[in-house]
Amino acid sequence: MVLTLREPPEEKEETVVKVEIVPEQQTVTNPQTILLRVFRYNPKAKRDEPRMVTYRVPMSKGLTVLDALLWVKENVDNGLSFRYSCRMGICGSCGMLINGKPSLGCETQVAELGTDVVEVGPLTNYDVIRDVATDFTDFFSHHSKIKPYLIRKENGEGTRIERELLQTEEQKLEFYQFTMCIMCGLCDAACPIVGMDKDFLGPQALAQAYRFGIDSRDQGWPERAEVVDSPHGCFRCELAGSCSAVCPKGVDPGLGVQLLKRQVLRRKVAHRV
Ligand code: SF4
Ligand code: SF4
Ligand code: FES
Repeated sequence: MVLTLREPPEEKEETVVKVEIVPEQQTVTNPQTILLRVFRYNPKAKRDEPRMVTYRVPMSKGLTVLDALLWVKENVDNGLSFRYSCRMGICGSCGMLINGKPSLGCETQVAELGTDVVEVGPLTNYDVIRDVATDFTDFFSHHSKIKPYLIRKENGEGTRIERELLQTEEQKLEFYQFTMCIMCGLCDAACPIVGMDKDFLGPQALAQAYRFGIDSRDQGWPERAEVVDSPHGCFRCELAGSCSAVCPKGVDPGLGVQLLKRQVLRRKVAHRV
């Protein structure tokens, strides 16, 4: 049986959605369609419960999971909630669990998944706002804590740098891969430590701390050291490596965290602190 959503509730009504049961024969695999099983839940609706709802979506060449969700929103249930913007792997907004793996909806083609049923849910380690949309407040807060920008003592934080700061190719390559981060948060969704410790800065923020700390133009280490070397900083990482396995941009945040540990220790030895 497939449950198809017909009448999305008004949030004010605080009622559980009504479902219509689609006849059994329509659930048989059809190469022209796919079944999309989507997590539905509105935490603000008192009587709502987390559940999976299945939709039949027309298959087409190049169909992405985000396209399939948009089709459902436009044709079946405009109350379905998820986040997206660029639809081209740049903005980092469309992170979601696809068949259990943190992925970008706009970069994941249904045909490449190799399954007739595609399961979509909210990213793990984030609170659900509604359905597939999750709350990134902690993620952005951790990112801002590591001061993700160049700090120069000569000008003071936040002021303009008046002269060109030259850098060799080797110096640039020390941090270059980490500049590819689009802040999609998939790495934090995959990290078991983020799941256990909400205050752990997480692989994204820590890799960015390394990115700025190793930049030859930056002079902000003293301001970041206290945060990255805290009980919720880089030494909380247990080197599971799952963060790097899911990054859609080829960044290796797990490596960034390990290099950051080395950076902290080297500076401690150098300054005897
Ligand atoms: S490191 Fe990769 S997975 Fe993590 S936020 Fe950046 S782009 Fe996303
Ligand atoms: S390597 Fe560290 S930051 Fe990355 S998933 Fe593992 S514990 Fe988390
Ligand atoms: S919609 Fe921007 S990365 Fe997917």
